[in-house]
Amino acid sequence: MKYSDLRICILFGTAVMSAAITGCSSPCRTVDVDADLKFCHTHVRLALTDLVSGDSSDYSMIPRNIAPGDSLWTLRPATAEEWCSGFWPGVLWLDYESSRDEEVGFQARRYTEALEHILDKPVFDHDLGFLMFCSYGNAYRITREPHYRDVILRTADSLATLFNPSVGTMLSWPRNVGLFGGHNTIMDNMINLETLFWAADNGGDRLLRDIAVKHAETTMNNHFRDDGTCYHVAVYDPATGAFRRGCTHQGYSDTSTWARGQAWAVYGYTVVYRATHDKRFLDFACKVTDAYLDRLPEDYIPYWDFDDPCIPDAPRDVSAACVVASALTELIGYCDSEHALRYASGLEKMLVSLSSDAYRPAGRCRSVLLHSTGHYPAGSEIDYSIIYADYYYMEALTRFAKIKDQPVFDTVGNMAAR
Ligand code: GLY
Repeated sequence: MKYSDLRICILFGTAVMSAAITGCSSPCRTVDVDADLKFCHTHVRLALTDLVSGDSSDYSMIPRNIAPGDSLWTLRPATAEEWCSGFWPGVLWLDYESSRDEEVGFQARRYTEALEHILDKPVFDHDLGFLMFCSYGNAYRITREPHYRDVILRTADSLATLFNPSVGTMLSWPRNVGLFGGHNTIMDNMINLETLFWAADNGGDRLLRDIAVKHAETTMNNHFRDDGTCYHVAVYDPATGAFRRGCTHQGYSDTSTWARGQAWAVYGYTVVYRATHDKRFLDFACKVTDAYLDRLPEDYIPYWDFDDPCIPDAPRDVSAACVVASALTELIGYCDSEHALRYASGLEKMLVSLSSDAYRPAGRCRSVLLHSTGHYPAGSEIDYSIIYADYYYMEALTRFAKIKDQPVFDTVGNMAAR
């Protein structure tokens, strides 16, 4: 056992003992999740006043980003080519879940249903899972209306057509096979496995589960370095399945660790463990999470790439922090007490930072968060508000509200008070 691990064990044991002796059961003391969710609700309502107005509302355009210094969402068409189309409906569902504001619920339905046309055509790329599960997945989770479930089942069948059995993964970008010189799978694709697992368990083909498990295994075996960090892109021979190379598209270099790619890995393997209860995937989720946490700066909000030589002057990526925060709300419940303590402590630090003035907009800016980085090498969305940061932040808060009274957060609070 390493010294740092031993120290955590001793602290953990002491804190649990002291909590037991004092009978202390106070919940998490550093995150005011109700206030944070209210802040989100205020900004969602503000954005809706720009976007919808009675019968003339246009649901074919969806919020994507806000440039530094601006306050209004830039809109993009709600199409399969616009990978972020599902996040705004998802934001509305998450806000409705906590606020129960019927106007928000009404608009969540309208924006969600505006995406159904995407399934009329063959799958464009792997982002179909992001698009339809963040929107329809939340719609079904919250309303239980069968139509929403049917759309997710159709989504899963369409996504599965990207699976190449010779490789054992889904092809992420059919349009980029030439560019990368083979079957390309990006780490982001891990997020789409949730759609396949969900469909297999809710009336869809059981084969969808096999595809998701195979994708997770192949990715685990090829897409990571020994230290638990990942490449953004893995390129395979489409006929033999041989792994050709790991490289980047949105990161600093082929050998660097792009923060959001690592965040997708944390979230993805947490979901795979939830769906399979296979200990290999839990151990791996912890390994990739530890690799992420080990590289964070003091405020727990990552630089856009952990290996950018401009650090500490490089831009941050708040969206990666939000993805990981949401994943940790779940992973804490699966892992051993030592990991749970580390992840609970990290989660609190992330949520505290995200709700601070350093990352929150002042005034009437429509987004909930600032300082995300979309595609640095392309010079796109650097230091912007981006809709998926708001989505995963609200998901993290909504989930955190349900677990914040667990003893592990009490232990973290006791340790911090020392
Ligand atoms: N899935 C694209 C991204 O993370 O930017």
